[in-house]
Amino acid sequence: MTEKQLIELLNDLSFEEKIGELQQLSGRVYFGDDGIITGVDSNENLTEQEVNRSGSVINVVGPDKILKVQKNHIKNHPHHIPMIFMLDIIHGFGTSFPTPLAQSCSFDPELVKEIAHESAVEACNAGLHVTFSPMVDICRDARWGRVMEGSGEDPYLSSKMAEAAVLGYQGDDLSKEGTIAACVKHFAAYGMVEAGREYGTVDTSERFLRQYYLPSYKAACDAGSALLMTAFNANGGVPSTGDKHLLVDILRDEWGYNGAVITDYGSIRSMYSHGVTKNAKESAKLAMDAQVDIEMCSYCYHNGLPELVKTGEISMEQIDRAVLRVLQLKNKLGLFENPYRFTDAKKSLEVINNKTAMDLAQKAVSKTSVLLKNEDKILPLKKEEKIAFIGPYVYENDMYGGWSIRNQRKVEPRNIETVVKEKYPQNEFVFEQGSELLGADEPILKYDRARGSTLEFEADATARKQKIEKAVKAAKTADTVVMCIGEHTKVGGELAAKAYIDIPKIQKELFDAVAAVNKNIVVVLFDHRPLDITDISKKSKAVLNVWFPGIKAAEGIVDMLFGDAAPTGRLTMSFPYTVGQCPIYYSQLPTDHSPVIESVYATGYIDCQLTPLYSFGEGLTYTDFEYGELKLSKETLSQGETLTVSIDIKNIGERDGVETVQLYIRDIFASVSRPLKELKGFKKVEIHKGETVTVEFTLTPEDCMFYNTQLEYVWEPGEIQVFVGPNSKIEKFKSFELV
Ligand code: NOJ
Repeated sequence: MTEKQLIELLNDLSFEEKIGELQQLSGRVYFGDDGIITGVDSNENLTEQEVNRSGSVINVVGPDKILKVQKNHIKNHPHHIPMIFMLDIIHGFGTSFPTPLAQSCSFDPELVKEIAHESAVEACNAGLHVTFSPMVDICRDARWGRVMEGSGEDPYLSSKMAEAAVLGYQGDDLSKEGTIAACVKHFAAYGMVEAGREYGTVDTSERFLRQYYLPSYKAACDAGSALLMTAFNANGGVPSTGDKHLLVDILRDEWGYNGAVITDYGSIRSMYSHGVTKNAKESAKLAMDAQVDIEMCSYCYHNGLPELVKTGEISMEQIDRAVLRVLQLKNKLGLFENPYRFTDAKKSLEVINNKTAMDLAQKAVSKTSVLLKNEDKILPLKKEEKIAFIGPYVYENDMYGGWSIRNQRKVEPRNIETVVKEKYPQNEFVFEQGSELLGADEPILKYDRARGSTLEFEADATARKQKIEKAVKAAKTADTVVMCIGEHTKVGGELAAKAYIDIPKIQKELFDAVAAVNKNIVVVLFDHRPLDITDISKKSKAVLNVWFPGIKAAEGIVDMLFGDAAPTGRLTMSFPYTVGQCPIYYSQLPTDHSPVIESVYATGYIDCQLTPLYSFGEGLTYTDFEYGELKLSKETLSQGETLTVSIDIKNIGERDGVETVQLYIRDIFASVSRPLKELKGFKKVEIHKGETVTVEFTLTPEDCMFYNTQLEYVWEPGEIQVFVGPNSKIEKFKSFELV
């Protein structure tokens, strides 16, 4: 439709139809409780007519169901307007890929784009139109369960990944087959919740918000994200869903974003829980004034807007503007010309787990896994050795992680034992489960209640003991032990905040028993978040952090263990030395009493080191690299100029490899404190054994900009230090002057 036709349609709609367009229903309205319901639910009763006028729905899954709902809807809607089907497709639809946090560790936006594209291809024929992804909240506290959905602690890296994901989902034309609309979330700063507490409080200055938290949402908006979701949290006591400054002044007026804004689940109503509104009407007024277009699964617009319009508190222009945005979204999706938009059960079955997606899923495992430690080059494993594979994840087929869609696959995932045995049938390998994923003594208080799904706990103390004994026996006679351990695959994502970030007790008991009899331990660690692995890391020779790799986890991990692929991921979230350090991130500000000034009064703890166990950017691979002299093409840089940074890197190891070269800057003196280091560039380069390559980066004054006290985005003259190295710990630098 042309814009003119859209406006004619808008003008032809009744008031009730307009309000309907702004309403998102839960799939349970249609199919009872078999949807994947998250967040708060509502028991509002809508009439059949009202249901038929609703503009969109969440959590209807399956092409047949979607076709049925859409056909019925189009038939019964007074103007036969199709509805939009939305779902959380967070790391793959039928093919589960590594979690988003893992994906960010690839430092490879192209990979993130490809994964988003494959997810879109599978979801499109299944009838879905919108995914609630990417989540671009900056995450610096491992206690928050949702860190697995984002790209970690750094705004620059996160912005690149945000852009890549949007482009991958949407392609260049949303009306084409194989695309779905992205919905960037959660605007804003949900990742900052105090102490990682789910749905908790956020309080940050506008300067920090703009400097560190907003850039990745802006990157997604600039890349064309068709939707944006508001956050559950308030900032400084102002709920995001009613935050006019955030949603109008910044998002609409400053950034020029004109896509649709949707709430999080029930988050207009939640303004009441925040203690900011007394009823649906007040909530609706705040959200409408903040230009929120679609209300997800609460009914404040439905219940409040008619009265608000009648009293003149909300104008018809406001309503029309919101409805037009919904119609524009439908138009972008091509729904007016193509109301069933490629929904095709047969084709859907064909594309699900197609070869391209499955190959990508396998390739992604080594690109997203981070080798944190590899003493004596114990990895890759030597096939001729006696190897014991021990731990619950040797036998787990489900290595999907939180926020996964598990019921849309055609191919069943395999476990590590199966894949190792198939690949190496003749070798002297043994396998022991050693323990269940969880014991009866885990501090998990409320998981079951929240999810309606159950976790299994080993309650039998004798069985627990016997399994450990068998594992210890196997470990005693092995040359090397590979321990596949970690967090439960479902305890990540929403409602999975933790005060303890250790591996489950039952697995730690197993690990300690095995470590007591064998020193050659390789840990394959499964996690949604950085865990406290200080003791585990001390007692093992290698730690291969695989996060949750998805449907091809076993194949990808076995490839890495035996050297058919090399891990090349780098941390995008620091691993704390202990949970008490959280939140922790590399780009700290210098403080009064900075540790650089040698003094007993230096910042830090009396009982723990200041630095994390593993920092942002860290990660090894199966070869080594030597960095040469850092060179800057000039000593000064001014407006309109560029400066070239170059460095030679030599592969001094025994095999070809990929290095992730990282560029950081530090603005030594500015009108506000600037971070000790800030990522401003990265490149992945393949370097053959013995070869040297020159890696170049370009810097401009814009790379040195920041928000000053007046919230102006500026650069200031002065010295800038440049660091290029394999991780954020690099200390050598060269300086130039901004003039
Ligand atoms: C609540 C979550 O916060 C959000 O990320 C998700 O997209 C919605 N529920 C819909 O499931």
